Amino acid sequence: MKVAVLGTGYVGLSTGVCLAEIGHEVVCIDVDKRKIDTLKQGKSPIYEPGLEELLVHNSSEGRLAFTTSHQQGLSEAEIIIIAVGTPQSDDGQADLSFLEQAAKDLAGHIVRDCIVVIKSTVPVGTNEYVKQLLLGQLKNNCEIKLVSNPEFLRQGSAIQDTLKADRIIIGSDDEGASEKIQEMYRPLDVPLLLTDVRSAEMIKYASNAFLATKISFINGIANLCEAVGADVEDVAKGMGCDKRIGAAFLKAGIGYGGSCFPKDVKALLHTSRKQGIPFSLLEETIAINDHQQELLVGKALKRFGELKGKKIAMLGLSFKPETDDMREAPSIKIAQSLTAAGARVAAYDPVAASNAREIIGDVITYADSAMEAAKDADALFIVTEWEEFKQLNVAALLDVMKQRIIFDGRNCLDEVLLQASGRIEYYPVGRPAVI
Ligand SMILES: NC(=O)c1ccc[n+]([C@@H]2O[C@H](COP(=O)([O-])OP(=O)(O)OC[C@H]3O[C@@H](n4cnc5c(N)ncnc54)[C@H](O)[C@@H]3O)[C@@H](O)[C@H]2O)c1
Repeated sequence: MKVAVLGTGYVGLSTGVCLAEIGHEVVCIDVDKRKIDTLKQGKSPIYEPGLEELLVHNSSEGRLAFTTSHQQGLSEAEIIIIAVGTPQSDDGQADLSFLEQAAKDLAGHIVRDCIVVIKSTVPVGTNEYVKQLLLGQLKNNCEIKLVSNPEFLRQGSAIQDTLKADRIIIGSDDEGASEKIQEMYRPLDVPLLLTDVRSAEMIKYASNAFLATKISFINGIANLCEAVGADVEDVAKGMGCDKRIGAAFLKAGIGYGGSCFPKDVKALLHTSRKQGIPFSLLEETIAINDHQQELLVGKALKRFGELKGKKIAMLGLSFKPETDDMREAPSIKIAQSLTAAGARVAAYDPVAASNAREIIGDVITYADSAMEAAKDADALFIVTEWEEFKQLNVAALLDVMKQRIIFDGRNCLDEVLLQASGRIEYYPVGRPAVI
């Protein structure tokens, strides 16, 4: 099938590359010329394991192309997938301006009957709204059908998640359009769930809000565990064995971040308020998460009295491991709070330093290794649970620090190993400290 993808971000690019991999002819369109130039050279503008290999392979096989020209990209497309960003507006609702622009761009360049698939995360009712926008501005007399097909991939495993998804949601009020999209995905051999457009739109928000709530729930339990002397890691394990609960997303820590959970929970809350249907659980999910992001700085202040003049080594900047994405990363707030309190911060991240510098700036320094960041530090903060940090030679690291103090925001250092490292103060989340 001939497919066009609008937007070559984490979702659009992963989708485009994977659809080419299963045999479709894909053209990816983006308004960002720098991104398209990079992609044309066979390089991925984002860090995503396995993506660049598929990009190079499918481009060389002639199934994958990139362009900034809508005219060129849309001329033959039977299916057009919209995967532009839907960030958060100031009032918490989803900002649909990129989507509206994408619809206008499409309306001017669609030259044949086609199916427009909205993959971006959008509030209930948006598919209908976009259909009206499109129909109102179409330059050529073509038949357009809309399908809602929200995306569930996780950054850091986007390719695997696309090729081996748990489910694909196809929301459509048109049987023919739904069948065509089912056919497009069939080679993936992933369970397809067919529903109406509004339910498809809601499934995405309900899923993300539920996962975020699960994280905030275990973080609430973690804070209680600290108060009563229990260990949240064992508590989570015990809970997760129960099939009704499940072990995933029960990892206590300094909260969720990224480009999806924070904005999607807020957008769903906005929808509930607009409908006059109270959903205070979501407010609490957000409040617990905000509190969690301040946790390490609070613990450090309690330990040191004040942070003025202290050097803090921060390990991890990206919002989660295996990505260079800094959107809503907890590290941003932590770096800002530490520097506001007069601390000097040296940060290290395996891949996100240059993106972090654009957001946090040069109020902190960026080291080339964990060891370099830790040198002469009064304390070490673990902010992102990169595999590299789990394998750290803690003894060697502690030896170069000024004070042997670790605040582990992700509970990722092995306590047995820590106890073998000689004198140390170790403050995890929701578990007894080692002092
Ligand atoms: N990132 C994730 O993990 C994830 C997972 C599931 C769903 N989503 C949702 O998918 C959507 C996209 O997310 P993302 O993280 O890939 O966004 P992104 O910001 O990484 O990428 C969006 C891309 O769209 C391009 N763009 C903007 N306007 C355009 C236009 N008119 N025409 C063509 N291209 C245009 C931008 O230049 C950018 O490259 C969002 O709605 C998001 O909520 C994201």
